[in-house]
Amino acid sequence: MIQIIAAAKDDISVIQSLAYSIWPVVYKEMITEEQINYMLENRYSKQALEEQMNAGQQFFIAREDNNYLGYAGVAPTETENMYKLEKLYVLPDNHKKGVGSILLDAVELFTTQKGGSELILQVNRSNAAVGFYKKKGFVIDREADVEIGNGFYMNDYFMVKKFVK
Ligand SMILES: CC(C)(COP(=O)(O)OP(=O)(O)OC[C@H]1O[C@@H](n2cnc3c(N)ncnc32)[C@H](O)[C@@H]1OP(=O)(O)O)[C@@H](O)C(=O)NCCC(=O)NCCS
Repeated sequence: MIQIIAAAKDDISVIQSLAYSIWPVVYKEMITEEQINYMLENRYSKQALEEQMNAGQQFFIAREDNNYLGYAGVAPTETENMYKLEKLYVLPDNHKKGVGSILLDAVELFTTQKGGSELILQVNRSNAAVGFYKKKGFVIDREADVEIGNGFYMNDYFMVKKFVK
């Protein structure tokens, strides 16, 4: 049975290990290896993850028996009642087995329990995950090419899902 763990600082090494296994595989057709490494170093160092947690990002990890399958991160935004799905990543061998849905359920429950009424996210416009998000009730709000430093860009959709109270 798949379990969801609300992660804390002790779990940082698990999140790092999942990210370093997942990112080079799922992003290899979308962005360069240099950009993947740059983003991993920037976003998944121990210090960066601690800062994200200190700033209110809640991480969830999916586990089945002793195997970790994926992770998600959700954080408040500057807009009241708006939360952002910052991360949602499942190991490629475990795609399409419901793990992403279970992680997203945990994120949505967290958001609504905090009083959030909408969840936003950014996703690469050529990422197949766009299809997953549409299936889960997200709609495309707008698109943007966002500079992330070192001359790298994210060519993204901004998507949103609103919760009915
Ligand atoms: C996107 C992702 C999290 C989905 O997780 P998953 O565990 O494979 O998804 P699920 O098995 O819960 O799928 C739920 C539904 O979405 C559908 N779905 C999953 N991936 C899909 C895709 N790429 N395109 C269209 N539909 C998709 C499934 O078929 C399923 O449909 P059903 O309810 O009719 O059976 C996973 O593919 C992933 O980790 N991708 C790489 C990382 C990534 O790009 N993350 C997003 C960064 S913004």
